[in-house]
Amino acid sequence: MDLKNLSLSFESHFNAEAQAFVRAPGRVNLIGEHTDYNGGFVLPMAIDREIRIALRPRDDGIVRLFSLDFEAESAFEIASLTRTGGWAEYAKGITAQLLQAGVALKGFDATLSGDIPVGAGLSSSAALELALARAFCVASSFNWDALQMAKLAQQAENEWVGVQCGIMDQMASAVCQANRALFLDCRSLEFQHILLPKGISVVVMDTTTRRGLADSAYNERRSECEEAARWLGVSSLRDTNVKNLNKWKAGCGLSESAFKRARHVITENQRALSAVKALKTENVNYLGELFNASHASLRDDFEVSNDALNHIVECAQAHSACYGARMTGAGFGGCAVALVEEEKVEAFAQSVSEAYCQKSGLAAALYVCRASAGASLLHQE
Ligand code: GLA
Repeated sequence: MDLKNLSLSFESHFNAEAQAFVRAPGRVNLIGEHTDYNGGFVLPMAIDREIRIALRPRDDGIVRLFSLDFEAESAFEIASLTRTGGWAEYAKGITAQLLQAGVALKGFDATLSGDIPVGAGLSSSAALELALARAFCVASSFNWDALQMAKLAQQAENEWVGVQCGIMDQMASAVCQANRALFLDCRSLEFQHILLPKGISVVVMDTTTRRGLADSAYNERRSECEEAARWLGVSSLRDTNVKNLNKWKAGCGLSESAFKRARHVITENQRALSAVKALKTENVNYLGELFNASHASLRDDFEVSNDALNHIVECAQAHSACYGARMTGAGFGGCAVALVEEEKVEAFAQSVSEAYCQKSGLAAALYVCRASAGASLLHQE
């Protein structure tokens, strides 16, 4: 929603003028999937789909939020947080973490609006967390430290919301830069902004299937990875290689599924590193091959794809303008991502949509995404 309409909605809801506008983007992960919680490497980019908040600070400790998308209001007192369920829990989680970090918080009134599809693997929740943190930053006048806010948002999701996610999504929504992907070492949190090659479009392909019971499957994958790391005698799968893993293959107690999970993580870390080299040398053909290999590994070894994701990836890979395609995000539904020749992107989108519909009976939503910047203040009176 543009700022004018967001501002009008604020006025009609709160009978006062908004004093500031903040935003935080969703993300698509280019490569490095299920590596973040294994201390590994990821390569996401923030997308030009985001959550925007219009706000007006209050002098007391009350936060009132109105979501234009859900047409729902939620209010809470900073000093007495209780769980009631729903989207406002992200706000309470951020509040709890900021308080724990010793930040003196003031309340605010806010209207929220976004265009990131929910549950599609494009990190609408990380965007919500970072946008709320940015809103608190304006209302309570503290310095914006993007890295600290990303860590705090991950803690909010782990501890308050109860999802054991890694750090990738919050980092992408906090620190990304326009036209660049984020190469992140999830152990040291060192990062580099890597320029995306010209003439290439990043196409997000939403299968419109959703994760369902995936949170338990996500946590199960995490424990299988931890089990494999224990067997291999390393603190995380980042610290081993395929040769080492193969030594353990036969009859040493490492379960077949933990072996496959480990093989995915180890090879995916290598692919993420290779992808960075491919980007730096503008070797888009190789980058595409890495995408395809990543999908096969997520499908066969990590087993987090579904039929719809496999179908849409196959349709994309079969198109002559496509360099490579893979599922993206946690999996079990949601989106895939393709690298496509910019000049032929419209024909690509049309042909993939048709082919996917024929194969799966579902209508996909395809977005050509631009790499955008992390959470920011848009305007302040
Ligand atoms: C979700 C999590 C991330 C990451 C991905 C898989 O998006 O929030 O931390 O683990 O899945 O790469």
